[in-house]
Amino acid sequence: MQPLVQIRNLSVVFDTEDGPLMAVDDLSVELRRGEVLGLVGESGCGKSVTALALMRLLPRPPARILSGAILFEGADLLDLPVAQLRSLRGRRLSMIFQEPMNALSPLHKVGDQLAETLILHDPKISGAEARNRAREWLVRVGMPDPELRLDDYPHQLSGGMRQRVMIAMALMLHPDVVIADEPTTALDVTVQAQILDLLRAMRERDTAVLFITHDLGVVWEMCDRVAVMYAARIVEQAQRTALFDRPRHPYTRGLLRSVVSLANRDATLTTIEGQVPSALHYPPGCRFAPRCPFAQPRCIESIPPLESAGEERLVACWRWRELPR
Ligand SMILES: Nc1ncnc2c1ncn2[C@@H]1O[C@H](COP(=O)(O)OP(=O)(O)O)[C@@H](O)[C@H]1O
Ligand SMILES: [Mg+2]
Repeated sequence: MQPLVQIRNLSVVFDTEDGPLMAVDDLSVELRRGEVLGLVGESGCGKSVTALALMRLLPRPPARILSGAILFEGADLLDLPVAQLRSLRGRRLSMIFQEPMNALSPLHKVGDQLAETLILHDPKISGAEARNRAREWLVRVGMPDPELRLDDYPHQLSGGMRQRVMIAMALMLHPDVVIADEPTTALDVTVQAQILDLLRAMRERDTAVLFITHDLGVVWEMCDRVAVMYAARIVEQAQRTALFDRPRHPYTRGLLRSVVSLANRDATLTTIEGQVPSALHYPPGCRFAPRCPFAQPRCIESIPPLESAGEERLVACWRWRELPR
Protein backbone atom coordinates (compact mmCIF):
# COMPACT_ATOMS: atom_id res chain seq x y z
CA MET A 1 0.00 0.00 0.00
CA GLN A 2 1.14 3.51 -0.83
CA PRO A 3 2.45 5.24 2.32
CA LEU A 4 0.45 8.26 3.44
CA VAL A 5 3.47 10.48 3.85
CA GLN A 6 6.92 10.03 2.36
CA ILE A 7 9.76 12.20 3.50
CA ARG A 8 12.54 11.85 0.96
CA ASN A 9 16.13 12.97 1.51
CA LEU A 10 15.16 15.94 3.62
CA SER A 11 18.00 18.25 4.66
CA VAL A 12 17.40 21.38 6.72
CA VAL A 13 19.98 23.91 7.87
CA PHE A 14 19.63 26.99 10.06
CA ASP A 15 21.70 29.98 9.13
CA THR A 16 23.04 31.14 12.47
CA GLU A 17 25.57 33.75 13.57
CA ASP A 18 28.02 30.91 14.09
CA GLY A 19 27.47 29.53 10.62
CA PRO A 20 25.18 26.94 9.07
CA LEU A 21 23.71 24.49 11.55
CA MET A 22 22.76 21.08 10.14
CA ALA A 23 19.46 20.27 11.83
CA VAL A 24 18.22 17.46 9.58
CA ASP A 25 20.55 15.62 7.22
CA ASP A 26 19.31 13.49 4.34
CA LEU A 27 16.39 12.03 6.23
CA SER A 28 14.01 9.63 4.54
CA VAL A 29 11.09 8.01 6.29
CA GLU A 30 7.53 7.03 5.47
CA LEU A 31 4.36 7.11 7.46
CA ARG A 32 1.64 4.56 6.76
CA ARG A 33 -2.09 4.73 7.36
CA GLY A 34 -3.16 3.56 10.78
CA GLU A 35 0.31 3.27 12.25
CA VAL A 36 2.11 5.01 15.05
CA LEU A 37 5.69 5.70 14.02
CA GLY A 38 7.99 6.65 16.87
CA LEU A 39 10.78 9.15 16.28
CA VAL A 40 13.28 8.95 19.11
CA GLY A 41 16.69 10.27 20.01
CA GLU A 42 18.39 12.60 22.44
CA SER A 43 17.57 16.27 22.59
CA GLY A 44 18.81 18.36 19.69
CA CYS A 45 19.03 15.59 17.12
CA GLY A 46 16.42 17.07 14.75
CA LYS A 47 13.11 15.49 15.72
CA SER A 48 11.11 18.71 16.10
CA VAL A 49 12.64 20.27 13.00
CA THR A 50 11.55 17.22 11.00
CA ALA A 51 8.02 17.61 12.35
CA LEU A 52 7.92 21.33 11.63
CA ALA A 53 9.18 20.74 8.11
CA LEU A 54 6.32 18.31 7.56
CA MET A 55 3.78 20.89 8.76
CA ARG A 56 5.70 23.52 6.81
CA LEU A 57 5.98 25.58 9.93
CA LEU A 58 9.73 26.12 9.93
CA PRO A 59 10.66 29.78 10.20
CA ARG A 60 12.36 30.53 6.88
CA PRO A 61 14.77 32.25 7.44
CA PRO A 62 16.66 31.17 9.51
CA ALA A 63 15.71 27.68 8.32
CA ARG A 64 16.61 26.63 4.81
CA ILE A 65 15.51 23.43 3.09
CA LEU A 66 18.62 22.25 1.26
CA SER A 67 16.97 19.34 -0.43
CA GLY A 68 14.22 16.82 -0.24
CA ALA A 69 10.53 16.30 -0.73
CA ILE A 70 7.64 15.53 1.58
CA LEU A 71 4.99 13.71 -0.38
CA PHE A 72 1.43 13.61 0.88
CA GLU A 73 -1.00 11.97 -1.51
CA GLY A 74 1.40 12.54 -4.34
CA ALA A 75 1.89 16.29 -3.78
CA ASP A 76 5.08 17.74 -2.33
CA LEU A 77 4.13 19.64 0.81
CA LEU A 78 7.33 21.64 0.48
CA ASP A 79 6.09 23.45 -2.59
CA LEU A 80 2.37 23.46 -2.10
CA PRO A 81 0.75 26.91 -2.42
CA VAL A 82 -0.03 28.44 0.97
CA ALA A 83 -3.79 28.42 0.39
CA GLN A 84 -3.79 24.68 -0.21
CA LEU A 85 -1.56 24.13 2.77
CA ARG A 86 -3.97 26.01 5.03
CA SER A 87 -6.83 23.81 3.95
CA LEU A 88 -4.79 20.71 4.79
CA ARG A 89 -3.71 21.85 8.23
CA GLY A 90 -6.11 20.86 10.95
CA ARG A 91 -8.34 18.81 8.73
CA ARG A 92 -5.78 16.47 7.15
CA LEU A 93 -2.52 17.20 8.97
CA SER A 94 -2.32 18.34 12.53
CA MET A 95 0.29 18.76 15.17
CA ILE A 96 0.45 18.61 18.93
CA PHE A 97 3.27 20.91 19.97
CA GLN A 98 5.63 20.72 22.91
CA GLU A 99 4.55 24.24 23.78
CA PRO A 100 0.75 24.66 23.71
CA MET A 101 0.78 28.44 23.30
CA ASN A 102 2.07 27.85 19.76
CA ALA A 103 -1.36 26.56 18.88
CA LEU A 104 -3.71 28.59 21.09
CA SER A 105 -4.72 32.20 20.79
CA PRO A 106 -4.32 34.19 24.02
CA LEU A 107 -7.22 36.44 23.01
CA HIS A 108 -10.08 33.97 22.81
CA LYS A 109 -11.89 31.72 25.22
CA VAL A 110 -11.00 28.06 25.03
CA GLY A 111 -14.54 27.03 24.12
CA ASP A 112 -14.73 29.59 21.33
CA GLN A 113 -11.42 28.47 19.85
CA LEU A 114 -12.48 24.84 19.83
CA ALA A 115 -15.92 25.65 18.41
CA GLU A 116 -14.35 27.91 15.79
CA THR A 117 -12.09 25.08 14.63
CA LEU A 118 -15.16 22.89 14.11
CA ILE A 119 -17.22 25.56 12.38
CA LEU A 120 -14.40 26.62 10.08
CA HIS A 121 -14.26 23.12 8.66
CA ASP A 122 -17.98 22.44 8.77
CA PRO A 123 -19.96 25.67 8.34
CA LYS A 124 -23.23 23.72 8.61
CA ILE A 125 -22.93 22.99 12.31
CA SER A 126 -24.62 25.43 14.68
CA GLY A 127 -22.85 27.36 17.41
CA ALA A 128 -24.62 25.34 20.09
CA GLU A 129 -23.67 22.06 18.46
CA ALA A 130 -20.05 23.17 18.11
CA ARG A 131 -19.95 24.13 21.78
CA ASN A 132 -21.33 20.72 22.72
CA ARG A 133 -18.71 18.96 20.70
CA ALA A 134 -16.02 21.20 22.20
CA ARG A 135 -17.19 20.17 25.67
CA GLU A 136 -17.17 16.49 24.69
CA TRP A 137 -13.59 16.83 23.54
CA LEU A 138 -12.54 18.45 26.78
CA VAL A 139 -14.03 15.45 28.57
CA ARG A 140 -12.09 13.09 26.30
CA VAL A 141 -8.78 14.76 27.08
CA GLY A 142 -9.43 14.53 30.79
CA MET A 143 -10.19 18.17 31.51
CA PRO A 144 -11.63 18.75 34.98
CA ASP A 145 -14.86 20.83 35.02
CA PRO A 146 -15.08 21.01 31.23
CA GLU A 147 -18.20 23.19 31.19
CA LEU A 148 -16.46 25.88 33.24
CA ARG A 149 -13.21 25.62 31.29
CA LEU A 150 -14.99 26.47 28.03
CA ASP A 151 -15.25 30.05 29.25
CA ASP A 152 -11.65 30.38 30.37
CA TYR A 153 -8.88 32.08 28.44
CA PRO A 154 -5.73 30.01 27.93
CA HIS A 155 -3.76 32.05 30.47
CA GLN A 156 -6.27 31.11 33.16
CA LEU A 157 -5.41 27.43 32.74
CA SER A 158 -2.46 25.46 34.08
CA GLY A 159 0.18 24.29 31.60
CA GLY A 160 -1.20 20.76 31.68
CA MET A 161 -4.73 22.00 30.97
CA ARG A 162 -3.55 24.12 28.07
CA GLN A 163 -1.79 21.07 26.72
CA ARG A 164 -5.10 19.18 26.88
CA VAL A 165 -6.96 21.93 25.03
CA MET A 166 -4.36 21.84 22.29
CA ILE A 167 -4.58 18.07 22.03
CA ALA A 168 -8.37 18.33 21.71
CA MET A 169 -7.93 20.94 18.99
CA ALA A 170 -5.44 18.77 17.11
CA LEU A 171 -7.62 15.66 17.20
CA MET A 172 -11.17 16.96 16.89
CA LEU A 173 -11.23 17.07 13.09
CA HIS A 174 -9.96 13.49 12.84
CA PRO A 175 -6.96 14.34 10.69
CA ASP A 176 -5.22 11.75 8.52
CA VAL A 177 -1.85 12.58 10.01
CA VAL A 178 -1.16 13.64 13.58
CA ILE A 179 2.28 14.71 14.63
CA ALA A 180 2.69 14.52 18.37
CA ASP A 181 5.89 16.20 19.56
CA GLU A 182 6.55 15.14 23.15
CA PRO A 183 2.82 15.47 23.72
CA THR A 184 2.62 14.32 27.30
CA THR A 185 5.77 15.74 28.86
CA ALA A 186 3.85 18.36 30.87
CA LEU A 187 1.11 16.00 32.03
CA ASP A 188 0.81 13.82 35.10
CA VAL A 189 0.79 10.06 34.69
CA THR A 190 -2.97 9.52 34.74
CA VAL A 191 -3.68 12.16 32.13
CA GLN A 192 -0.72 10.96 30.10
CA ALA A 193 -2.25 7.48 29.96
CA GLN A 194 -5.57 8.97 28.88
CA ILE A 195 -3.94 10.95 26.04
CA LEU A 196 -1.99 7.93 24.86
CA ASP A 197 -5.26 5.97 24.75
CA LEU A 198 -6.78 8.71 22.63
CA LEU A 199 -3.90 8.62 20.18
CA ARG A 200 -4.13 4.86 19.98
CA ALA A 201 -7.84 5.18 19.26
CA MET A 202 -6.99 7.55 16.39
CA ARG A 203 -4.94 4.81 14.82
CA GLU A 204 -8.00 2.60 14.66
CA ARG A 205 -9.61 5.24 12.48
CA ASP A 206 -6.70 4.90 10.07
CA THR A 207 -4.99 8.04 11.25
CA ALA A 208 -1.20 7.91 11.00
CA VAL A 209 0.61 9.22 14.04
CA LEU A 210 4.19 10.45 14.08
CA PHE A 211 5.03 10.19 17.73
CA ILE A 212 8.10 12.09 18.87
CA THR A 213 9.54 11.32 22.26
CA HIS A 214 12.73 10.59 24.12
CA ASP A 215 10.84 8.22 26.43
CA LEU A 216 11.42 4.65 25.25
CA GLY A 217 8.86 3.34 27.72
CA VAL A 218 6.21 5.32 25.88
CA VAL A 219 7.57 4.12 22.54
CA TRP A 220 7.12 0.55 23.69
CA GLU A 221 3.53 1.24 24.69
CA MET A 222 2.55 3.26 21.65
CA CYS A 223 4.49 2.62 18.51
CA ASP A 224 4.30 0.11 15.68
CA ARG A 225 7.58 1.14 14.12
CA VAL A 226 10.43 3.23 15.40
CA ALA A 227 12.99 5.47 13.72
CA VAL A 228 16.01 6.38 15.84
CA MET A 229 17.67 9.71 15.13
CA TYR A 230 21.14 10.74 16.09
CA ALA A 231 22.79 14.03 15.15
CA ALA A 232 20.34 14.93 12.37
CA ARG A 233 20.27 11.48 10.74
CA ILE A 234 18.26 8.32 11.10
CA VAL A 235 20.60 5.64 12.37
CA GLU A 236 18.17 2.77 12.74
CA GLN A 237 14.60 1.97 11.86
CA ALA A 238 12.61 -1.17 12.62
CA GLN A 239 9.40 -2.68 13.87
CA ARG A 240 8.99 -1.98 17.54
CA THR A 241 9.54 -5.51 18.86
CA ALA A 242 12.50 -6.14 16.56
CA LEU A 243 14.09 -2.89 17.68
CA PHE A 244 13.67 -3.60 21.36
CA ASP A 245 14.62 -7.29 21.10
CA ARG A 246 17.54 -6.95 18.72
CA PRO A 247 18.80 -3.41 18.45
CA ARG A 248 21.55 -3.29 15.81
CA HIS A 249 22.95 0.21 16.00
CA PRO A 250 25.27 0.89 18.96
CA TYR A 251 23.33 4.09 19.65
CA THR A 252 20.01 2.22 19.87
CA ARG A 253 21.67 -0.31 22.15
CA GLY A 254 22.90 2.49 24.38
CA LEU A 255 19.47 4.12 24.55
CA LEU A 256 17.83 0.84 25.47
CA ARG A 257 20.44 0.03 28.09
CA SER A 258 19.79 3.28 29.90
CA VAL A 259 16.07 2.42 30.08
CA VAL A 260 16.68 -1.09 31.31
CA SER A 261 18.89 0.11 34.13
CA LEU A 262 16.34 2.72 35.12
CA ALA A 263 13.69 0.02 35.31
CA ASN A 264 15.94 -2.17 37.45
CA ARG A 265 16.81 0.72 39.70
CA ASP A 266 20.36 -0.26 39.02
CA ALA A 267 22.88 1.34 41.33
CA THR A 268 25.10 2.16 38.37
CA LEU A 269 22.94 4.04 35.91
CA THR A 270 24.14 3.32 32.41
CA THR A 271 23.90 6.30 30.18
CA ILE A 272 25.72 6.72 26.93
CA GLU A 273 28.97 8.44 27.73
CA GLY A 274 29.83 11.72 26.09
CA GLN A 275 27.58 14.19 24.34
CA VAL A 276 25.80 14.70 21.07
CA PRO A 277 28.21 16.67 18.87
CA SER A 278 27.26 20.24 17.95
CA ALA A 279 25.20 20.53 14.80
CA LEU A 280 27.54 23.35 13.76
CA HIS A 281 30.51 21.01 13.54
CA TYR A 282 29.61 17.44 12.90
CA PRO A 283 32.64 15.17 12.80
CA PRO A 284 33.34 13.41 9.51
CA GLY A 285 32.25 9.79 9.37
CA CYS A 286 29.73 8.27 11.70
CA ARG A 287 28.58 10.98 14.10
CA PHE A 288 28.18 8.47 16.88
CA ALA A 289 31.74 7.17 16.51
CA PRO A 290 33.23 9.48 19.20
CA ARG A 291 30.88 7.86 21.75
CA CYS A 292 30.72 4.38 20.28
CA PRO A 293 32.32 1.47 22.15
CA PHE A 294 32.70 -0.40 18.84
CA ALA A 295 34.23 2.38 16.75
CA GLN A 296 37.14 1.58 14.46
CA PRO A 297 39.27 3.84 12.27
CA ARG A 298 36.97 3.44 9.25
CA CYS A 299 34.05 4.71 11.30
CA ILE A 300 35.51 8.19 11.49
CA GLU A 301 36.33 8.31 7.79
CA SER A 302 32.97 8.21 6.09
CA ILE A 303 29.31 8.25 6.99
CA PRO A 304 27.76 4.80 6.94
CA PRO A 305 24.72 4.66 4.64
CA LEU A 306 21.33 3.66 6.00
CA GLU A 307 21.05 0.17 4.57
CA SER A 308 18.67 -2.74 4.75
CA ALA A 309 19.46 -5.12 7.59
CA GLY A 310 16.70 -7.64 7.21
CA GLU A 311 12.97 -7.41 6.88
CA GLU A 312 11.65 -3.93 7.67
CA ARG A 313 14.95 -2.93 9.23
CA LEU A 314 17.41 -0.24 8.25
CA VAL A 315 20.64 0.51 10.01
CA ALA A 316 23.48 2.99 9.45
CA CYS A 317 26.57 1.40 10.95
CA TRP A 318 29.71 0.12 9.24
CA ARG A 319 29.94 -2.71 11.73
CA TRP A 320 26.40 -3.93 12.33
CA ARG A 321 27.07 -7.34 10.77
CA GLU A 322 30.08 -8.03 12.99
CA LEU A 323 28.76 -6.81 16.29
CA PRO A 324 27.78 -9.27 19.02
CA ARG A 325 24.06 -9.98 18.87
N1 LIG B 1 15.00 28.38 15.14
C1 LIG B 1 16.20 27.79 15.23
N2 LIG B 1 17.33 28.47 14.97
C2 LIG B 1 18.55 27.86 15.04
N3 LIG B 1 18.73 26.58 15.34
C3 LIG B 1 17.64 25.84 15.61
C4 LIG B 1 16.32 26.39 15.57
N4 LIG B 1 15.44 25.41 15.89
C5 LIG B 1 16.17 24.30 16.11
N5 LIG B 1 17.49 24.55 15.95
C6 LIG B 1 18.60 23.57 16.08
O1 LIG B 1 18.32 22.46 15.24
C7 LIG B 1 18.79 21.27 15.85
C8 LIG B 1 17.66 20.27 15.92
O2 LIG B 1 16.70 20.77 16.85
P1 LIG B 1 15.36 20.02 17.23
O3 LIG B 1 14.76 19.43 16.00
O4 LIG B 1 14.54 20.97 18.00
O5 LIG B 1 15.86 18.84 18.17
P2 LIG B 1 14.98 17.77 18.97
O6 LIG B 1 13.54 18.05 18.72
O7 LIG B 1 15.42 16.44 18.46
O8 LIG B 1 15.36 17.93 20.41
C9 LIG B 1 19.37 21.67 17.20
O9 LIG B 1 20.77 21.80 17.06
C10 LIG B 1 18.72 23.00 17.48
O10 LIG B 1 19.53 23.80 18.30
MG1 LIG C 1 12.06 18.63 20.07
